[in-house]
Amino acid sequence: MNYATLLLSTENNICTITVNRPDKLNALNKDVFTDLDNVLDDIAADENIRSVIITGAGPKAFVAGADIAEFSSLDKKEAMALAKRGQDVFFKIENSYKPIIAAVNGFALGGGCELAMACHFRLCSENAKFGQPEVNLGLIPGYGGTQRLTQLVGKGKSMELQMTGQMVDANEALALGLVNHVTSAENLLDKTKEILTVIQSKAPVAIAKVIGCINTAVAGGIGENGYEKEVTSFGDCFETADMKEGTTAFLEKRKAVFTGK
Ligand code: COA
Repeated sequence: MNYATLLLSTENNICTITVNRPDKLNALNKDVFTDLDNVLDDIAADENIRSVIITGAGPKAFVAGADIAEFSSLDKKEAMALAKRGQDVFFKIENSYKPIIAAVNGFALGGGCELAMACHFRLCSENAKFGQPEVNLGLIPGYGGTQRLTQLVGKGKSMELQMTGQMVDANEALALGLVNHVTSAENLLDKTKEILTVIQSKAPVAIAKVIGCINTAVAGGIGENGYEKEVTSFGDCFETADMKEGTTAFLEKRKAVFTGK
């Protein structure tokens, strides 16, 4: 399928999605949300794709935010619908049972920081800058930023960053736990693929269960108890061929070969 605002390439079962509006620093307009929504469905259904990278086109930005040009004509009801739409697409990323990692290659501001935070974890290049500068516009984050930044860096730092609108650079993002690794810009995608290759060598059902249980932990277990979910998910793994293969291979002192069954 073709997506007007995204570039897609798949290699070794890893699909790289590149948000492709470099002249607007990859700002998220309605079309990007439509394309992201659709591509996530297509990826979920595509057996050839086992994991995903999200990055931005050009050397300067991952995503510099929601498209501010779309804000000027909105009334309250429309603004709420926009925030809900953004949150729903980002929930789809967060709840994907296939791993989705952000490779942040420059500015990740506003909706860009929120997009990165909706991914399962993040790597960034040395020139990356993160921030929620919405207060500069008389706004607050609307695509989950008030919640996910708080989950990732803690209440005090989240308050400071969202009240001052200040950006943090790659090393501070690393120190805060906002990103897991910092690399050179040239090495960013290779390093991300290296990590996904390790993940892809594990049992896919187990990976999906890890994602579900950890999401329940940080979401405060809305309607769900994370410990109970862990018990059920642990049990579910015992019904998979991959669990039998993994435990048998260990006992037979050989490398497990997982099939996703
Ligand atoms: N929405 C819409 N357009 C955006 C944008 C956004 N969030 N971020 C950047 N752009 C556009 C600029 O308007 C400019 O377009 P133009 O060339 O047609 O005038 C182009 O992208 C390049 O941006 P520019 O501001 O010239 O680059 P810069 O290097 O001087 O500054 C930033 C880079 C990221 C600091 C600056 O673009 C910025 O502050 N962007 C907005 C960040 C923000 O507030 N995000 C949260 C939105 S809720």
